[in-house]
Amino acid sequence: MIEGSLWNSYSDETITYPKLKGDIAVDVAIVGGGITGISTAQALAERGYKVAVLEAKSVGKGTTSHSTGNLYVIIDQLLSSLKSKYDKEVVKKVILSRWDALKKIEQNVEAFQIDCDFKKQPLFLFEDANSMKMLEEKKVAKEIEFEFFELTKTFPLDHDDGMRIEDQAQFNPLLYIQGLASAIEGENCKIYEQTIVRAIEEEEDRVLVHTPGAIVSAQYAIHATHTPKGMEMQYHTALGPYREYGIAAKLHSPDYPEGIFWGYYHDKKYSLRSYSRKGEQYLIAVGSPHKMGQAKDNKEHVEDLKNFIQKRFDISEFTHVWGGQNYKPADLLPYIGRKKTNSREFVATGFSTDGLVYGTLSALILADQIEGKFNPYEELYRAARHNPAKSAGKFIKENVNVAGEFIKDLVFKGDDEDLVGIPPGEAAVLTRNGEKLAVYKKEDGSLSILSALCTHMACRVHWNNVEKSWDCPCHGSRFNTTGEVIEGPAYIPLNKIEIDNK
Ligand code: FES
Repeated sequence: MIEGSLWNSYSDETITYPKLKGDIAVDVAIVGGGITGISTAQALAERGYKVAVLEAKSVGKGTTSHSTGNLYVIIDQLLSSLKSKYDKEVVKKVILSRWDALKKIEQNVEAFQIDCDFKKQPLFLFEDANSMKMLEEKKVAKEIEFEFFELTKTFPLDHDDGMRIEDQAQFNPLLYIQGLASAIEGENCKIYEQTIVRAIEEEEDRVLVHTPGAIVSAQYAIHATHTPKGMEMQYHTALGPYREYGIAAKLHSPDYPEGIFWGYYHDKKYSLRSYSRKGEQYLIAVGSPHKMGQAKDNKEHVEDLKNFIQKRFDISEFTHVWGGQNYKPADLLPYIGRKKTNSREFVATGFSTDGLVYGTLSALILADQIEGKFNPYEELYRAARHNPAKSAGKFIKENVNVAGEFIKDLVFKGDDEDLVGIPPGEAAVLTRNGEKLAVYKKEDGSLSILSALCTHMACRVHWNNVEKSWDCPCHGSRFNTTGEVIEGPAYIPLNKIEIDNK
């Protein structure tokens, strides 16, 4: 089984961009080359702004290529959750804003002839008798006059109740972003890969974006990095980092289900879809969400997904497994806009698992704001808002602030094993002279020893045995086995520790 997203297997490897090697000046520096960064670069470059996109690795290969590739106008936590916190006008506005973004993606596919397997599909929501979501969801949909249909008898998955929403869509998210990036790159839009940002410094009349080899001077900077980089505590305390897994499989039969399927079984949600390209067909399942860095054994989540689809489909083989991260916002709405009043920095974060559409919507809102134009959704998603939802305080307590304390008391698989007990390719957090060390044993038996303290705010990282990474439970930073930052708010790699390995 390939450890990596299915989308990466169909990546267009002919599209690459240079590393930034010297200082430059632009109107807008965009940190992050995923769907938010590239879509925002498009919106600004088309309006005549000079932009530079700074991507730490390769365009589209971060969070965007770990998503499902599903595009829909509701939200992953359902309309009924929104309605429990807001009036119906807000719920309608969220749907309208997401329609605008979905249409923008469709327009881009047509305008640039992006070969990304875009197609319209229905979204099916369904549940077993132990889940109690559909009744309320249908009630809210009727209240806001949102069209849906009852499921027919031929619906292929076991269920007790459900609904169908027409005119949603699917695509290959990586091919879309690679195609869009290559269409917009030019005079107004420069894209740099392998260009990691180490700091953003705001001055009175400009922003300086520091990379190891160069500084970008800009009028504005946009954090298109999933979660803002650095010590942005107003966001880090309002976002709960979650992780879930994706698997791709092949069936014995050629009858793969068509559509977007969200199944609610007991207290769990599973998302299913099919994908076909170059004569190959796959079934994709995504689910088993859990709080980031707090899974006792990550492999259990992958097994849960496998079991779910094995019970319902005749699987011939599992082909891919990958993890994806998301940040749930305290009040169910993402944060899009100026970091704080009069700031030259903008953020787009808190997308939960709805980021393909929200990332595209962010581009439309941020470009209007930078241009000084009214945007009808600016206020709804204003980044510098107070959390209006009554439950925000409870959310923060449960999901974020307590993580640092809570994590001290948890023992994870692999924690405090001795060096001898760590098999090659595995790792453990060990204590030496009172210091917590993140120790990874390479396949050749040699050790990579790092400080187990996250460089963001010193929470203790823990080992993710599926993705071979060190994950921080507090605000979602992840590091590879040599300590380099994979994602999250941390700028700096984990400290390497020099000790006698014997
Ligand atoms: Fe904030 Fe690790 S991500 S302390």
